[in-house]
Amino acid sequence: MTQLRKNIAEMAGYVPGFQPQDVASYIKLNTNENSYPPSPKVLEAIAREVNDGLRRYPDAGSTSAREEAAKLYGFDPSWIIMANGSDEVLNNLIRAFAGEGEEIAFIHPSYSYYGTLAEIQGATVRTFGLNERFEPQGLPERYDGKIFFLTNPNAPLGFTFSKKFMIDLAGRLSSGVLVVDETYADFADDTALDLVKSLDNVVVTRTFSKSYSLAGMRVGLAIARPEVIAALNKIRDHYNLDRLAQAAAVAALKDQDYLRSVVKKTRATREWFTKELEKLGFTVIPSSGNYVFATPPDRDGGRVYQALYEKKILVRHFTDPVIAHGVRITIGTQEEMETTLAAIAAISYSSAA
Ligand SMILES: Cc1ncc(COP(=O)(O)O)c(C=O)c1O
Repeated sequence: MTQLRKNIAEMAGYVPGFQPQDVASYIKLNTNENSYPPSPKVLEAIAREVNDGLRRYPDAGSTSAREEAAKLYGFDPSWIIMANGSDEVLNNLIRAFAGEGEEIAFIHPSYSYYGTLAEIQGATVRTFGLNERFEPQGLPERYDGKIFFLTNPNAPLGFTFSKKFMIDLAGRLSSGVLVVDETYADFADDTALDLVKSLDNVVVTRTFSKSYSLAGMRVGLAIARPEVIAALNKIRDHYNLDRLAQAAAVAALKDQDYLRSVVKKTRATREWFTKELEKLGFTVIPSSGNYVFATPPDRDGGRVYQALYEKKILVRHFTDPVIAHGVRITIGTQEEMETTLAAIAAISYSSAA
């Protein structure tokens, strides 16, 4: 009998949010996808790539996409690596920095996939909880772990860490890197990109899955010092972005007007939805992402999830006891959120009766 590595045999594996086959019959607010379509220019760019050229391998360096990202963010292209979704680059960061038995850390709650990736690698995991002001607890003066993943804005809660906190945290790392996962940063007011330049141990990751409405395309990127990018380039699948993904990435990055219009609508709906939920007695954490974490008056997040599910509205409920009292609801179109709000109002009414 062949033997699996012990950590693989013992690990549970990550369970992504529910993706129904008959997606059109749901209002889908459970995996923070974008309810608005991708830019028409992106769809045109992808369509232009569907041709005889597909018999050739794509550009292994994703050169055009890197150059476009470099221009947009104000870096030299040698500071940028494209990825098959930001999940790929998170995985490769662990492979690059954390060996078997070495430690990585992240905030609890945040993106639990960091833990899964560490388990695959055989690295160990340390988490730091939050107090009621969302301040991480128990951070040591000097942290010897190899990577600290900081999801900013935090998912699933939506709050942000201050620049001051991030600088302090980067300073506590003895030899590790601070990876700021900016999956949702386009919906927020600030970014840690300047820290990649000013501090030598900060990496930022971004995705096209949320603000650019391209979750189905699988595109992400990381921005880091060229020596880190060079190491990540050794590890990654050499053709990690296919031809369509590269064309989509270039067109998406070029169409910043479209990005801004989607972000503006999402933020406006987020503020409206937050206020309306509060009127219903929910506690809603002010969010800088395209989602809100909302706690019903009876603190039974599972019941809200179930009641919405029965009306074909999908939101995310986590069984983790630290966050089981609430639900994370993606901000969709204004119309979707009006329907969702009406469904939530009906639940609150029936619970009070
Ligand atoms: C915090 C966080 N990081 C990373 C990802 C992965 O994104 P991608 O689609 O780019 O792999 C997600 C997806 O939901 C996320 O919430």
